[in-house]
Amino acid sequence: MEGKKVTAAALKEMKNRGEKITMIAAYDYPTAKMVDGAGIDAILVGDSLGNVILGYRDTLAVTMEEVIHHCRAVARGARRALVIGDMPFLSYQASVEDAVRNAGRLIKEGGAEAVKVEGGRGVADKIRAIIQAGIPVMGHLGLTPQWVHQLGGYRVQGRDYAAAQVILEDAKMLDKMGVFSIVLECVPWQLAKIITERVNVPTIGIGAGPYCDGQVLVLHDLLGMSVGELAPKFVKRYAQLNEIIEKALINFRDEVKAGKFPSLEHAYAMKDEDFRRLLTLEKRIPLSRWGDDEAEFNL
Ligand code: KIV
Repeated sequence: MEGKKVTAAALKEMKNRGEKITMIAAYDYPTAKMVDGAGIDAILVGDSLGNVILGYRDTLAVTMEEVIHHCRAVARGARRALVIGDMPFLSYQASVEDAVRNAGRLIKEGGAEAVKVEGGRGVADKIRAIIQAGIPVMGHLGLTPQWVHQLGGYRVQGRDYAAAQVILEDAKMLDKMGVFSIVLECVPWQLAKIITERVNVPTIGIGAGPYCDGQVLVLHDLLGMSVGELAPKFVKRYAQLNEIIEKALINFRDEVKAGKFPSLEHAYAMKDEDFRRLLTLEKRIPLSRWGDDEAEFNL
């Protein structure tokens, strides 16, 4: 789908006119092209790339170099969609300087147009500094996987009044600080609805119910291509590509073993006359043809 480049500001306008926002976490050039072509508004090069495509146990091991590498591929494939680079674990937590420098790297080296930062009040100074450096920031509250050890696992956040209040206050704070959008991950739909109504910027939900301003899913989950663990309840599979891919690979293996692939349909041919000349060639061909005057090659 062709169209005007989506900007961080455009997402805010979409909230104002009540148009739902779509975002997909994707990590490479061909899938970015497909996501973009389908008219998805934003592509997040999420640190979920650690689990989804690099085979890590969690997102904590993901490095700046890895996110930059995948961001560049996505940026090359996205013509219309806004490209958002995810700030990986320890790329911003230790200092304001780290935060600004690494956010800047995602823009300069990765080709991202905005960055996403997990966390609320604990990282407010870092988020503020990145915004002051002129880089649009998407916040991320609720289940923040970089805090997995502190949270005691991947579980729904803000289920009781006190916990919900903290997330609501953090969302209001991020809104005031000038983030352009907030991801709400794994929070009760009632809390997501209240936040969505109380903040000016769009909320993008994942496991946060239907009342957010937009929705995000990981591409591999949506396509039924994720490996390993069972998908969380909030994932809807729009296809079962794992099964299709597995069947195709088994077919390829069986056909090669049986000598069925490739048939001549998938092979290149030379002119018949040249083929016949080749067949009648003498047995010994001087290797001078290949630039070696001395040696001879036995057919
Ligand atoms: O890393 C990621 O893909 C994310 C989304 C799930 C929001 O943070």
